[in-house]
Order: sequence, then structure tokens, then C-alpha cells
Amino acid sequence: MPNHQHMDEQQKEAYDKALRDSFRVLMSAIKLLLILVVGILLYIPLKSDIQQWLSPKPVVKTVSNSGVQPNEEDFDKVENGVHLATGLKFAPGFEDVRANCTVCHSAALVTQNRATREGWDQMLTWMQETQGLWDLGPKRARILDYLAEYYAPEAQGRRASLDLQEIEWYILDLE
Ligand code: HEC
Repeated sequence: MPNHQHMDEQQKEAYDKALRDSFRVLMSAIKLLLILVVGILLYIPLKSDIQQWLSPKPVVKTVSNSGVQPNEEDFDKVENGVHLATGLKFAPGFEDVRANCTVCHSAALVTQNRATREGWDQMLTWMQETQGLWDLGPKRARILDYLAEYYAPEAQGRRASLDLQEIEWYILDLE
């Protein structure tokens, strides 16, 4: 660095100018840094808003004046032994069936079907072999008990057993 006392006027002016220039550069750098810091400080609290602007989530419209808002309570509502949201019989095993059998398709597929325990067993095996139904472990027996009990074939046990004394037998005339 040149010594002040030995500088002539021209050198001094050039030196001052260099000093002013580097001061200006320094100030610009500080300003830039400040803007950056303020930017970061503003960005952090507004982060989620900014992300929302950049990729807006679809707005879920809720029906506001229907008076019947779907809520947890309705979701678990049971009337006359039927779980309203799924239409499934509310009975032991219901939770297992709801948790495992309403994932891929509606519970209606269950409630609209009737089968014996064996029939249900075959249906579950079919779904496991072809539709990607997972291993149900110990829940399988509980689910089968439930299905066989509440979704048994309609006709089974419905007709009163024949009363042999009441029947009027006749001889079929085959001529
Ligand atoms: C991994 C997916 C998956 C799960 C979990 C699942 N299913 Fe299914 N299920 C299917 C598919 C796929 C079909 C065929 C749907 C169609 O035909 O439209 C089906 C069909 C059915 C049918 C109709 C069968 C027929 O012959 O029409 C019944 C009944 C059924 N499932 C009951 C159940 C029960 C009970 C459970 C719970 C143990 C269950 N499903 C869990 C995938 C699944």
C-alpha cells in the first residue's frame, strides 16, 4: 500500500477513488446480504403459503347449508344393529370386516352376497389368489364366523320342517 506522505495529488486522488469504490462494493455486498437474510426470515413463516401458491391443492368443497355435516359420529353410527356408513351388521367381527373388506371395494359387495362359511372361505381364497387380498392371519377365522353368521344363504333354515302328519298323501295316477 503506498505511503500517503509520498503520494502526489494524482496518486492520492486515485487512491481515494479506489477506496470509495471498494467501500461501495462492500456496501452493495452488505445490502445484498441483508436482502437475503430478510428474504429467508420472511420465507420461513410463509413457506407453506408459498408452496400453496406454487402447487395449489384442490379445494375440497363442503356442503355448508345442508345441516348434515359428515363427521366422526355419523361415520360410526349404528341403527337397528346395522352400521350405517357401510351397511354391515354391527356384531362381533364387524371391525375386522370393515378394516379388511372395504379397502378395495364397497362393503355392498359383502352385504349383497350370501354364502356358507365354506363358500366365504373360498371367496377369500379366490381374492387372495387373484385380487391381492393379504394374509388375514388369525382374523380370517373371526371374519369367516361373522360372514357365515350374518351373510348366510337366505333359504337355509327358513322353511319350516315338513309336518308328516299334516300332509294329505295321494296316489299319483299314472294311467
Ligand atoms: C386387495 C383387494 C381386496 C380386498 C382387501 C378384499 N377384496 Fe373382495 N374383491 C376384490 C376384487 C378385485 C373383487 C372383484 C370385484 C368385481 O368383480 O368388481 C372382489 C370381489 C368380492 C366379492 C364378490 C365376489 C363375487 O363372486 O362377485 C365379495 C363377496 C368380496 N369381494 C368380499 C370380500 C371380503 C369379505 C373381504 C374381506 C375379507 C374382501 N372382499 C376384501 C378385491 C378385494
